[in-house]
Amino acid sequence: MSDRPQVQDATGRLGVLLPGFGAVATTFVAGVEAVRLGLTRPIGSLTQMNTIRLGKRTESRTPLIKDFISLSSLKDLVFGAWDPIPENGYASAKTAGVLEGRHLDPIRGFLEGIEPMSAVFDKEYVRRLDGTNVKVGATKRDLAEQLRTDIRRFKKDHGCERLVMIWCGSTEIFLRPGVAHGSLEALEAAMEANDPAIAPSMLYAYAAIMEGVPYANGAPNLSADTRGLEAAAEERGVPIAGKDFKTGQTLIKTILAPGLKARMLGIDGWFSTNILGNRDGEVLDDPDSFKTKEESKLGVLQHLLQPELYPELYGDLYHKVRINYYPPRGDNKEGWDNIDIVGWMGYPMQIKVDFLCRDSILAAPIVLDLALFLDLAARAGLSGIQEWLSFYFKSPQSAEGLYPEHDLFIQHRKLKNTLRWLGGEEPLTHLGLDY
Ligand SMILES: NC(=O)c1ccc[n+]([C@@H]2O[C@H](COP(=O)([O-])OP(=O)(O)OC[C@H]3O[C@@H](n4cnc5c(N)ncnc54)[C@H](O)[C@@H]3O)[C@@H](O)[C@H]2O)c1
Repeated sequence: MSDRPQVQDATGRLGVLLPGFGAVATTFVAGVEAVRLGLTRPIGSLTQMNTIRLGKRTESRTPLIKDFISLSSLKDLVFGAWDPIPENGYASAKTAGVLEGRHLDPIRGFLEGIEPMSAVFDKEYVRRLDGTNVKVGATKRDLAEQLRTDIRRFKKDHGCERLVMIWCGSTEIFLRPGVAHGSLEALEAAMEANDPAIAPSMLYAYAAIMEGVPYANGAPNLSADTRGLEAAAEERGVPIAGKDFKTGQTLIKTILAPGLKARMLGIDGWFSTNILGNRDGEVLDDPDSFKTKEESKLGVLQHLLQPELYPELYGDLYHKVRINYYPPRGDNKEGWDNIDIVGWMGYPMQIKVDFLCRDSILAAPIVLDLALFLDLAARAGLSGIQEWLSFYFKSPQSAEGLYPEHDLFIQHRKLKNTLRWLGGEEPLTHLGLDY
C-alpha cells in the first residue's frame, strides 16, 4: 500500500465554483443554505449523513464520516457560478421549477445574491440554448485566461482559502478524444488555433487545473476526460473526477445489475426509456447532445456484467436507452426499465421498474459530496483521477489501461476504504476470520 498521506485540516472558507447555474446547481446551493438555516436535512449526502465502521465489529466504532475525517463544514462554503443565461440563483431556481416557493422564499435574498459570471459559451456545442451573458475573446486560449482571472478574483473577493469546481453545465455535443487533447501542449496550441475539437467545458477544466483547483464533471461531455488534462492534473497535484452524475435510471441500473449478476442470473435485454421536460431534456433533444449521454449510459452494463467472462449469461444482451423530451413533466422525470432475465434451465422472467424521480433532487447531494471530497483529496495531496469517487458517476474516469468500475457496491466499498486509509484506519476486508 502506498504511504498514507498527511491530511491538512479543512480550515477557512471553501469556494464552490459552478459552471452552469441551472436546475442541479441551484437545487444544490439552495439545499445547502436551507440546511445551514436548519430548515431541512441533507438527505442523500454521504458527507453529511453516512457513518463509517472502523475496526472490528466488536469495537462498535461507527462515527459519522464528517466526524472521522476533516471535511469543510457547510457554514464555510461560498458559491460562485458562470452561466450564459444571466439569471440570479432565485430566478434560475424558479425557471428550473424543482423547488417549491415554500423552500425558495425563505432563502430568496441569499439566492438573489448569486449572479452568474459571464460564461465561455458557444452554441455550436449546445445547440438548443441561447445566452447573452457570454465572454468575448479572439481565441479559446484568451477565453480560458478570462476564466482563470475570474477564479482568482472570486477567491480574493470572497476570502476563500481553497476552491473546487464542479461542472453543472449543459451536455455538449459528442466529441471523441483526438490529437488536440493528447497533451497539454497540444491542447494549448489547439486553443490558440480555435480548433473545433476544444469545447467550452474543456476551457473551464483547463482553467481550474492551471489554477490548482480540483475539478469534477457532472455531465457526460469530455471536458477533463482527456489524456492531456489528466496528465496536467497529475503533474500539478490537482485532483479531478468525472463524469456524468449517477442519479436516476443509471443509479437504479447499477443497484439492480450487480444483484442479478451476483446470483448468476442471465439478462437477455434491458430497455430503458425516459420522459423529462426540463432544460436538460430540451438540450438532450438535440441528437448530438443525446449521443454524448447515450454513450455514457450504455457503457454501464457492458463493464458491469463482463460478458467476455460470462458469454452464456450476458453475451447476447440487448441494451437500449432512450430519452424523450416531454415538457409537461418538467424536472420530474419518469424512467421505465424492462429487464428480460433468464433463470434455471433458461426460463425467462421479466422485471419492470417505473421510477418517478426528481433528477436534480438526486443530483444535488452528489454535488455537495464531490465538492467536499475533492477538497479533502487536495488537502491529502492526491492528484489526477480520483477513482474512489466513481461512486458518483455514470462513466467513471479511470487510469489508462484500467476498465472503469461501475458496480455501486464495489464503488461504495472503495470510497469508504479510501476514507479509512486517509484517516489512518485499516481498510475493511469483511474476511471476519478472527471473530
Ligand atoms: N439532474 C441530473 O440528475 C443529472 C444527472 C447527470 C448529469 N446531469 C447533467 O448535469 C448538467 C446540468 O443539468 P441541469 O438539469 O442542471 O440542466 P440545466 O439545463 O437546468 O442547467 C444547465 C445550465 O448550464 C448552462 N450552460 C450551458 N453551457 C454553459 C457553459 N458553456 N458555461 C456555463 N454554463 C453553461 C445553461 O445555460 C444552464 O443554465 C447537464 O449536463 C446534465 O446532463 C444531470
